[in-house]
This record gives sequence, C-alpha cells and structure tokens, in this order.
Amino acid sequence: MSALDAPLIVASNRGPVSFDHDDRGELVARRGSGGLVTALVGALQEARGVWVAAAMSDTDRELVAGSEGGRVDMGAFGSTYRVRYLDFPPDTYDGYYNRISNGVLWFAHHYLWDTARSPTFGQEDEQAWADYVTVNRAFAQALAEEGDRFPVPPVYLIQDYQLALVPRLLRELRPTALIAHFSHTAMAGLTYLRILPAKIRDGVLRGMLGADVLGFHSQMWAENFLMSARSLSGVRVDLARSRIATDGREVLVRIHPISVDVGPMREAAASPQARELRRELNRWRENARLILRVDRLELTKNILRGFQAYELFLRRNPSWIGRVKFLALLSPSRMELPEYRSYTEECLAEAERINREIGDRDWLPIEVRVKDDYLGAIAAYGLYDVLFVNPVYDGMNLVAMEGPLLNRRQGVLVLSRNAGAYWRLGRYAIAVNPFDLREMADALAQALEMPQEERARRARGLSRLVLSNPPARWVRAQREDLERVRLRRLGRPGGPAEPPG
Ligand code: G6P
Repeated sequence: MSALDAPLIVASNRGPVSFDHDDRGELVARRGSGGLVTALVGALQEARGVWVAAAMSDTDRELVAGSEGGRVDMGAFGSTYRVRYLDFPPDTYDGYYNRISNGVLWFAHHYLWDTARSPTFGQEDEQAWADYVTVNRAFAQALAEEGDRFPVPPVYLIQDYQLALVPRLLRELRPTALIAHFSHTAMAGLTYLRILPAKIRDGVLRGMLGADVLGFHSQMWAENFLMSARSLSGVRVDLARSRIATDGREVLVRIHPISVDVGPMREAAASPQARELRRELNRWRENARLILRVDRLELTKNILRGFQAYELFLRRNPSWIGRVKFLALLSPSRMELPEYRSYTEECLAEAERINREIGDRDWLPIEVRVKDDYLGAIAAYGLYDVLFVNPVYDGMNLVAMEGPLLNRRQGVLVLSRNAGAYWRLGRYAIAVNPFDLREMADALAQALEMPQEERARRARGLSRLVLSNPPARWVRAQREDLERVRLRRLGRPGGPAEPPG
C-alpha cells in the first residue's frame, strides 16, 4: 500500500489533548492549539490512526488505569483516532524527561551551557540515560504493537528529541517499517555535540538514523545533522543530495517547515472574549506604540537580552520615552528545572530595574504578564506595532507566524537569524543577531520608524508566506518522502516529485 494512504501512527512525548474534569465531574478533552497538533490530528482523523504518548498528568493516568492497555478511543470526544498512553514510574520519567530530554539534549541543541562551568557529567547522568533508553524502548515496543493491529503496514511519524532513539529501536523490532523522525528543535553542530558523553551523542545520532527520513524545520539544522553524522563510523554522508548511507539503508534528510493553523486562530481572534481583551489592551496602551513578545518562559527565548536591548533603544532614542510600551506575555514552562526558575526571577527583576530606572509614575516601559494565556496572546497579536522574536536558537518559532496573521496595524517583525522561522520569513523581517544588544536596539528603532508603505509591504509578504503553507502540507510532505523510500526499496525509484532542497 502506498505510504500516502497507509495507516498512520504518531509518537510524541506530550499527547495531542489534555484531559480535565468539567463542573459535573465529566471528562473533557482540550486539544493543543499549535500547527503540529492540528496537522497530525487532521491526518490521524482521516487515517483513523493512533497517537502514542506519555501519560503526563494525573488525569492521563486515571484514563490509563480505566482503559485496556492505556488505549483511549477519542470517539467519546468526537474524534476518529485513538491515543495510547504509556505510563512510567515517576523516577524513570524524571530521568528521561527532566534530566536527559530537557536538562541535557535541549541544552545541547540550543547551545545553552555556560561551558566554563557546566555541564559536568557523572554517575547520576548514567542512571538518567538508562531511564531515557528505557522510555524510548517502551515507545518503540508500543509502536510495533500498534502497527501490528492494522491489516496493512502503517507509516510512523516520530516527534522530537525526547524520542531520538525510537527510530533505531523500532527498526530493530520491525526491520521493514517506514519510519520518519522530525526534530522540532534546533540541532547543534558537531563540536558542540561533543560536549555530550560519547554514549549519549552517538546514541542520539545513531538512534535517529534508524529512520528512513529525518525532517527539520530549517536548512541550518539539517546541515548540522548531516555534518555530525559524518563523524560516525560506518556512515556515509552525501551532502549534495542530503542523503546518508548506513547499515545497508539510505536515510533522507529533508527540510519541511511547519506552519500555523489559520482557521481556529482567526475564530478565536473574532470571539467576544478576544474582542474584550483587545479593548482592555487598547485602554492600557493609551496612545503609545506597542512592542510585543509572546513566549514560553524559556531559556532559549532570550527574554533577558530582549529587555536589555529595549532599554538600550530607549537610552539611545530618548524621544521614544513615554511614547512606547513593551508588553511581554510569558507562559510558565519546565519549572521543575532550577535553571528555569532562576531565569524567570532574573527576567522579572530585569524588567523591574528598567521600569525603576527609566519609567515614572505615569509611564512604565515594560509590562510583564506571566500566565498561560492563549486568548490574551491572540488579542495582543492584533495590536502590536513591533513583534519582537529574538531567540538565541529556536527550531522554528510559531509566534513569528501567528503574529503577522492576526495583526491589524501592519506591525513589523524583528526576528533572530537563529530561529528556524528566519529561513522562511527572513526577507520580510528585520533580522537581528540575538546576542548583539546594539543591533537589536537599532532594529527596534528601525521598526518603529519604518515608513507606512514599507511596513505594509512586509506585513503582506509575511502573511502571504504563512498562508501559503497550511499544516496539512507538512504531513503530506513526510508521507511523500516515505513513499519515495518505499518505491526505491521495491526497486522502483521515482514516486512523488522531489521537492527542492
Ligand atoms: C518545544 C519542543 C516540543 C515540546 C515543547 C514544550 O516546542 O520542540 O517537543 O513539547 O517545546 O515543551 P514541554 O516539555 O512542555 O512539552
């Protein structure tokens, strides 16, 4: 059966829905809102597929306890796919998720260490790595089992750095399976990956190479992977064709930038609640111009330098004092990790210092709101004059896409060159080096002072680019890659036309 129509099995650490109890104690399912979930759930609905994920909340665990084998039929919630939850002992999950996935791999891929001092690897990391392997192995086993329940072989779409070993482990169980792995994060270059103990570094690279297709959001990350794979023995990398030969197989390395789902966002933006929130924000901003950032409270997002760049901008352009406000909407994230807790404190303290030093009773330069507030962000997108997206490194960054779709003021996007989104949107943004305060300060000035016509041209360009890439295309592109692999295996090269790059 063609990989374009084969049953679909998705795996990711976090599942597509979060369950909750409503006022009457009934279970309700709330779907995640990003492009990824939209794209994959859409495809799963069509294929009546399965999503395998870790049970993360108490309600997830409750469901697992009340189900057969952790399988939840989403039919009860109006959908046509199934979720299979894997439940792990808390210690094992902690080693896999907090320590290795978020404490080691996330830091490595985003160049987050202060290498004069950290990291140092020791005994504890050995145990945590063993937990990571255990969880990845359990995912591979569950994927193989779920695959066997379909009358024809499925295709597997495995997501992200938490599951980097799954492609190889699944390949060991089902040698002919069609497997794609997608990295939503940045991918560090080889010299930085060499910080990792060899077992972890080689484990991750070889683990990913168990797939037939490796997907990335931007050329930067795909190239880093290709260069790193060259360091492995028994692996041949064809840089020009973006292919890797290993274990008598070929692995394709592809770039498929994901986008956002326009429909639900526009609906949310048109809702009475969003309208009310916009009115409130408009009252708060008074006549000032608005610089907006919307982020998870996340080390990679460069919130601290963002505030400092804005401070520098105000000091160098005092005519803007009192005429501009910076709104930072930050949602708490990964507070289990001490680095995230202290970063949050630093960000808040820095905003307070700037407010104290530059603001006065009538005007505060920065407003920080720490809250998980999707509708608040949707409302604020409508109103910004400048959207400030300056991550140190970022796999993609969907804020850079959501903003331009909903903005009503021909706002300007200031965008880090190290965000995957830059690869697609860069030509209509003002590009910045996220480490260079002076360049970011100048970019804010340029954005605020940009002539109307130029703002309009760029805003049009941005929303056109985002609209031209609906999320369903992202899944389709991966199925097409897998179909190419399938035909090649059958000795029939060809299949869907190769996309460029
Ligand atoms: C990034 C990663 C995802 C991750 C998300 C939130 O976008 O690429 O894999 O799910 O952050 O992180 P969390 O640990 O809260 O799921």
